[in-house]
Amino acid sequence: LYLNDFSARLLDWYDAHRRDLPWRSDTPDAYAVWLSEIMLQQTTVAAVMAYYRRFLTRWPDVRALAAVEDAEVMREWAGLGYYSRARNFLAAARMMAAEGFPVDEAGWRQLPGVGRYTAAAVAAIALGQRAVVVDGNVKRVVARLFIVETPLPAEDEIYRLTDAITPGERAGDFAQAMMDLGATVCTPRSPKCLLCPVRAGCRAYRQGNPTDYPRRSPK
Ligand code: ADE
Repeated sequence: LYLNDFSARLLDWYDAHRRDLPWRSDTPDAYAVWLSEIMLQQTTVAAVMAYYRRFLTRWPDVRALAAVEDAEVMREWAGLGYYSRARNFLAAARMMAAEGFPVDEAGWRQLPGVGRYTAAAVAAIALGQRAVVVDGNVKRVVARLFIVETPLPAEDEIYRLTDAITPGERAGDFAQAMMDLGATVCTPRSPKCLLCPVRAGCRAYRQGNPTDYPRRSPK
């Protein structure tokens, strides 16, 4: 399997099997995508769903959110945990209500609470720009595909390899396809390799030991 076939196969699989999640839209809104990515940090898709819908119903855009008191927002966040996420989100929303949304990944990266992952995810998913999106699931998938021998985080190596397979078009769909693949097929313990659309290009599958990757650091 050649590298350029890789994204084509993965995107075909995504088109057929994508999970229908409320933040996946044909007309993505940067505020909504950003909110989803912040909520999904350290929190499962199942737990986020209801919070995400309530939050967007109450404050459908950055102007609506910027106008409310902190305590209102914290009350709505109650139960999700990691409250610094909400505080940063609100601070950044107030900056954006005044100055507008950043137009690229580097601009998003400047905002409070927006790290390397979130900036890339918003740029790819909401702005339609090519960006290299690496979260925990993606790291595991890439470590198996390329039999990465360095124990995680192996940040530089994983980013370089993910960059090499990220397509110029549909980078947002590609990123979410990698996340879905990691969540449903290329799972930590019992990966379902026979259902994997890219097993023909997976070196760990070829070796017969996908669960040996990512490598664990020696104690
Ligand atoms: N986890 C974090 N972001 C996600 C997304 N956009 N889709 C599915 N799972 C995710």
